[in-house]
Amino acid sequence: MDKLLLIDDEADVQYSFRRIFDSPEIELSTAASGEEGLARIPHFKPDLVIMDIRMGGMNGLETLRRLRLIDSKLPVIMMTAYGTTQTAIEAMKLGAYDYMLKPFDVPKLKEIVHAALKASRDMRQVVTCQSAPDAEDIASGIIGRTEIMQGVFKLIGRLAASDATVLITGESGTGKELVARAIYHHSQRSDQPYLAINCAAIPENLLESELFGHEKGAFTGAANLRIGKFEQCHRGTIFLDEIGDMSLPTQTKILRVLQSGSFERVGGGQSIQADVRVIAATNKPLEKAVADRQFREDLFYRLNVVRIEMPPLRQRAGDVPLLAAYFLRKFARQKQRPPKSISSKAVAMLQEYRWPGNVRELENAIQRAIVVSQGDVILVEDFPAEIVGASQGSAAVKSQIPVKQGPMTKAQELDIPALAGQLFAWAKKSPSLKVLPAIERALVIHALKETRGNQLQAAKLLGITRATLRKRIEKFGIRQEFNAQ
Ligand SMILES: Nc1ncnc2c1ncn2[C@@H]1O[C@H](COP(=O)(O)OP(=O)(O)OP(=O)(O)O)[C@@H](O)[C@H]1O
Ligand SMILES: [Mg+2]
Repeated sequence: MDKLLLIDDEADVQYSFRRIFDSPEIELSTAASGEEGLARIPHFKPDLVIMDIRMGGMNGLETLRRLRLIDSKLPVIMMTAYGTTQTAIEAMKLGAYDYMLKPFDVPKLKEIVHAALKASRDMRQVVTCQSAPDAEDIASGIIGRTEIMQGVFKLIGRLAASDATVLITGESGTGKELVARAIYHHSQRSDQPYLAINCAAIPENLLESELFGHEKGAFTGAANLRIGKFEQCHRGTIFLDEIGDMSLPTQTKILRVLQSGSFERVGGGQSIQADVRVIAATNKPLEKAVADRQFREDLFYRLNVVRIEMPPLRQRAGDVPLLAAYFLRKFARQKQRPPKSISSKAVAMLQEYRWPGNVRELENAIQRAIVVSQGDVILVEDFPAEIVGASQGSAAVKSQIPVKQGPMTKAQELDIPALAGQLFAWAKKSPSLKVLPAIERALVIHALKETRGNQLQAAKLLGITRATLRKRIEKFGIRQEFNAQ
């Protein structure tokens, strides 16, 4: 449940808030003055404060100033009547999350409250790295026991002391946002604000003013000065999500902030300094975007200094049982029910699946399976057809040479690093195996058998030239008993 504190001396406003936010997910408390509001904060512990600027006694700006001394992260939405927007702008400079004009438009108010509560949760729910999920702390862990995830955890730990810009890449649903928050929570800036901006969700022409603000009259519709996120988040951390979708002019401004810590508001000439740490993420291959001139090369190198590459879930299948158990507990707790268990056959199937949507897809599959399953144990058939089908297909695939099946579907693709890992484990045990030449030799024989000695085809299958294949045949003394007939 989210806790909302309203500070306003008008009984009418208090009344309408009670009606608007009458929901089991929100607990609302009201205070009629700045003094009362500040006194309420330590025991009510709100997730969000909404406050009028003009009040009897201590006004809104002064209250905000004092509130910031107690808590520099608590999001505050200021309310103001038309004609007093200058004060609202002052409030933004003091670190208010946003402001609303009175009388307010209810859907807009709800939208802003929703976004501010999300920002509040991002800041308050500490994300921890967990190789053995903590029974208590179920809401916000990055779960992973595999070596590849331990590597990610170590990197997050090493980054804690630094203020470096970080680039997080990886397929959709691999946990990039979670990692960004973990870096923030472990950093020296963890007592300062964290703001996440999804660059893909904001129309291109508005993103620049969202990030850097605009001067009054900068463009049609810019009726007032607006303070952007970089100015608002001074001393804090900004998470630029989906940075691969950012337009080139905005990229130029980001590069400048990263290099010099300064920027101008849209339509403004005054240079503004902002001390902000940037964490960026994208699921687009930025190297390709650079090659296609969609992404500035200099910005790419500036961001790429510290890079965290989130591995796809199929490269950490060993974490699937742990993640499945974690999500079972998480959803059970949300519904306040005892967690269901999952059959070992179903777990084996989940480990086989390719997970194009990665951890998010697994999370959704578990959530759905909990609803679909009849008893206390989740079974294979409680999962969607694409997951069940892929695992049934893969049993057949293993016993055949995939060449005959035409192009491989995604679900059947080989996990080469995993395979190499197994082979390497053998090689370590018996070096006399001479693993690399042994594998090359075996693969050449396979390809020749498969193509009945057709060297051109065999070379193609192996991804080498015919000349290279010939050299291998010679080197390994493979006799040509597979000659084409
Ligand atoms: N290692 C993990 N342990 C627990 N939960 C995880 C893990 N990785 C991801 N999740 C969960 O999976 C979902 C997707 O993660 P997240 O939003 O961080 O992915 P993303 O990489 O940012 O995806 P996108 O590119 O689509 O934005 C979230 O609900 C997140 O909490
Ligand atoms: Mg994301």
